[in-house]
Amino acid sequence: MAFEFKALPFTFVTHALAIAGAVLVLVWCIHFRGGLAWEASNKSLIFNIHPVLMLIGLIIIGGEAIISYKSLPLKKQEKKLIHLVLHAVALILGIIGIYTAFKFHNESGIANLYSLHSWLGIAIIVLYGIQWIYGFLVFFFPGGSTAVMSESLPWHVLLGAFAYILAVANAAIGLLEKLTFLENSGLARYSPEALLINFTAVVAILYAAFVILTVIGQGPPVKDSTAVQE
Ligand code: HEM
Repeated sequence: MAFEFKALPFTFVTHALAIAGAVLVLVWCIHFRGGLAWEASNKSLIFNIHPVLMLIGLIIIGGEAIISYKSLPLKKQEKKLIHLVLHAVALILGIIGIYTAFKFHNESGIANLYSLHSWLGIAIIVLYGIQWIYGFLVFFFPGGSTAVMSESLPWHVLLGAFAYILAVANAAIGLLEKLTFLENSGLARYSPEALLINFTAVVAILYAAFVILTVIGQGPPVKDSTAVQE
């Protein structure tokens, strides 16, 4: 499905928002929250890895994977490889990011999986994993028949878009949850840090909107005419 507009101009805005989102989450966690650490007596530094990996990994690299078909003037097979490799990177960073939230909880004596954010988070990462494995088997290796590929494609697109939108919504919930914890421990509501956290969520949502706009636009002409229309 493609609307009657060219996707390319939208890809530039998408990339710019990706950089803005990555800078905002890094400034927040490093400048305002004291940095990132895998092992530390200050357990908050372990937690800080969570938003950084979820936002830069799952949301930003995941978004770049989604738009790779529309942003790169390459052959179909090359774009497919880039699409699946970027999604694998997003998935792996997402899994490590979730692991750090559990690590932080366990080392701080905090219960696990008590919030809507955490339940949605598990559902999203499982869906993302299933989507990646199914996509790999059907569209890449060993690859399904042409009929299986063309029947699977609309479901792949629908489920992928659903998981992605849910992930961005959950990142916004996560940012809100953390901001609420910080405000309950004394952070002022209109402080620079509070505004920065809210703006990070706004940029993530705008980024997702441009990912979707890019995806529904028309990509560059396909370079190899023999490719199956997937
Ligand atoms: C789509 C991206 C995200 C996913 C899939 C995700 C997933 C999760 C999961 C599964 C947990 C539960 C860990 C446990 O119970 O031990 C968790 C915890 C947490 N996450 Fe995220 N997260 C995401 C993004 C974010 C972001 C951007 C923030 C911003 C700070 C954040 C803040 C938190 C907080 C405060 C917790 C601890 C409280 C709780 O369990 O709800 N998350 N996350």
